[in-house]
Amino acid sequence: MKIKSLKQKKKWQGQTVLLRVDFNVPVVNGRIGEDYRIAAALPTIKYLRERGARLLLISHWGDPKTVDQYLSTKPLARRLQKLLATPVKFIPDLTGPKAKKAAVSLQDGEIIFLENLRSHLGEKKDDFTFAKELAALADVYVNEAFSVCHRAQASVSAITRYLPAFAGLQLEEELKNLQKILKPAKPLVVVMGGAKISTKAPLIKKLYPHSSQIIVGGGLANTFWKYQGLEIGKSLCDEESAGYLRPFFKGKKQLPKIILPIDVIVASSKGKIRHCLPQEVKKGDCIFDIGPSSIALFSSYLKRAQTIVWNGPLGKFEDAPYKHGTMAVGAIIAARSTGRAFGLVGGGETVEALKMTKMESYVDWVSTAGGAMLAYLGGEKMPGLKNIIF
Ligand code: 3PG
Repeated sequence: MKIKSLKQKKKWQGQTVLLRVDFNVPVVNGRIGEDYRIAAALPTIKYLRERGARLLLISHWGDPKTVDQYLSTKPLARRLQKLLATPVKFIPDLTGPKAKKAAVSLQDGEIIFLENLRSHLGEKKDDFTFAKELAALADVYVNEAFSVCHRAQASVSAITRYLPAFAGLQLEEELKNLQKILKPAKPLVVVMGGAKISTKAPLIKKLYPHSSQIIVGGGLANTFWKYQGLEIGKSLCDEESAGYLRPFFKGKKQLPKIILPIDVIVASSKGKIRHCLPQEVKKGDCIFDIGPSSIALFSSYLKRAQTIVWNGPLGKFEDAPYKHGTMAVGAIIAARSTGRAFGLVGGGETVEALKMTKMESYVDWVSTAGGAMLAYLGGEKMPGLKNIIF
């Protein structure tokens, strides 16, 4: 794989760069929550500014049902300005006269942040006209938004028809690190949690032949149990997507490398918390965490791994009584990373959980992506990477 890195371009001075970032950060009580995605783009922004480029930043934020329900990216521009300690001018426009005027008036090293890409109908349609209008504002395009590269959307896909395209520094590192999962030092152990089997099945299928174990927890494990005909009570389950599970079963037994929890923590309909076997879950129960025997079993595999990839929490970690499984596995992965095994963790909730262990700095690569990481590792199409990797 060859990556068209921005380091290959010698002259940035005086060039207007359309820099696609993914600042799709969570909103908590109307304010910006965890901002590691913004922080991850800083090296590219600094690299380009130091070389005299003029920056036009574009991002989506949220996924509005209709284009007029979009969130303005103004607070993102403000947060960036704070993190960079440099003025970032916000322009509430994308391709109209205000954006054009602002782009023309940019000076070397200056930064302008444009309005939410999803305020324009053309963005999600991968519309050529919209992409062309965006392209007209700049001389060069840099993609620093790996986390949205699984989408065929104008600002990552169609745009590359109209401007010379380069990979941002973070995007380049994402690809290099994800390659280490596709060509792993063995044993490879995959840890998968979260809710939606439809988004995780392609990756499990792709990595299964190369893995020693695929450890499954959280809502995914419930879906496996439901498929096997076990009672899961009112637990989170992706029943409509159960068809995705077929390749992972021989009859009613899951394939040998798929490792499900051997004990669980449940809450009864009256809120009573108990520890039991998966076979002992009752009708009114909710499975909220894996139990201590599962933690011990999973750690016995993780301790032998040379490569580990983790996506998806193993329980309802945001509630204190049910955080232990996710915290323990996160801590084991972090402890095993950096020197012993190559550890890669990705996905918004997973990174949030990893941070709660306070051990995230030990993990070799913390991806900024969730869906895009799953899609890339699962071998799906990545419209945002065309013209950037060859
Ligand atoms: C993400 O948060 O995974 C990316 O920003 C993509 O967002 P989307 O799922 O709304 O397209």
